[in-house]
Amino acid sequence: MTATKGLEGIVAAASSISSIIDGVLTYRGYNIDDLAEQATFEEVVYLLWYGKLPNQAELAELQSQLNEHAAIPSAVIDQLKLFPSDANTMAVLRSAVSALALYDESANDMSHEANLLKAIKLQAQVPTVIAAHARIRSGHEPITPLLDRSIAYNFLYMMSGHEPDQAAVAAMDKALVLHADHELNASTFAARVTVATLSDIYSGVTSAIGALKGPLHGGANEAVMVMLDEIGSFDRVDDYIQAKLDNREKIMGFGHRVYKNGDPRAKHLQKMSEELGKAHGNLELYNMSVRIEELITGQKGLKPNVDFYSASTYTMLGIPRDLFTPIFAISRMSGWTAHILEQYENNRIIRPRAEYTGPSGQSYVPITER
Ligand code: ACO
Repeated sequence: MTATKGLEGIVAAASSISSIIDGVLTYRGYNIDDLAEQATFEEVVYLLWYGKLPNQAELAELQSQLNEHAAIPSAVIDQLKLFPSDANTMAVLRSAVSALALYDESANDMSHEANLLKAIKLQAQVPTVIAAHARIRSGHEPITPLLDRSIAYNFLYMMSGHEPDQAAVAAMDKALVLHADHELNASTFAARVTVATLSDIYSGVTSAIGALKGPLHGGANEAVMVMLDEIGSFDRVDDYIQAKLDNREKIMGFGHRVYKNGDPRAKHLQKMSEELGKAHGNLELYNMSVRIEELITGQKGLKPNVDFYSASTYTMLGIPRDLFTPIFAISRMSGWTAHILEQYENNRIIRPRAEYTGPSGQSYVPITER
């Protein structure tokens, strides 16, 4: 038995939710480029869960269910108030999602109907949790989600305390569409492994949040912004990046396990970053990002992934950098829950083998003789 490091190239599940074939990403067969330009996030959520695009009545029904379940239990708000104000935001989210299960009477009901309803609740409540934490840690009361508003609108509203403009909502919505699902990425795999033991959906999603947190996965968008903040200005980009390359350090937001000729999502985020920069009359972050891309692609042949231009995009939307990865979780909740439902439909426990590399034939020595 020989291990494949990082499971590279291993096909570990059959799935009809999203595909990456010849560098093209589709959700249920729809090209991500078309969805990014034309679909709302709620349409994509429906598509991922139900396998088809909704008609107007179906979309309205989903929107009303998401609005109905968007408020979070007051006990969870009380817990958020007890967390340290400087706590890691993904750790807060991981803990809060785990806590949501404690106040859901159907948490352990494994019927399809109950699991679908829990997916709706999770998708609806996670933006509220993140916005509530953002408010509480800065000394404000959480804001109740508005009815008849999209997830993108409500999140920006609850986070900032004021009604967002249309351009900001459109940009946020497109970012959510772009991050919604991505085949068997690390966090989705974590979710599927967890629920394949027939554990509950909250446990699966909590596993996924833990996996997304890492800087090699979803945590990269925050790490990109840390880098941009460290660089500080356009004229310092070349020296900073050269020093990193000389030290053989990784540059966050570049490279991908599956895409070797570029991540199809990155161009959309780059365009948004440029448009928001122009709208704000400040292209510094965008220009810095473009220069970093020129250097890294030029010297290493590595292309930006979804996380690279999302950093400047979110910053120009007024979002603090430690909320970038939680926002990724708002979007990917749709994909995680779709994969969890699919795993339950045709389940077998996921239990691979390990190549043993330790010693053999050891003789037990009593503790008093060691
Ligand atoms: N900066 C510098 N060098 C890199 C980078 C990078 N960002 N990414 C890959 N490389 C190098 C590796 O060091 C390796 O070089 P070597 O062969 O000389 O050792 C080579 O490119 C191949 O890379 P691997 O590490 O084998 O790629 P792997 O598939 O294991 O990892 C990953 C993919 C984790 C995305 C990696 O490219 C990386 O760490 N990127 C930075 C973090 C990041 O942006 N993550 C977000 C990914 S998208 C997402 O999860 C949402």
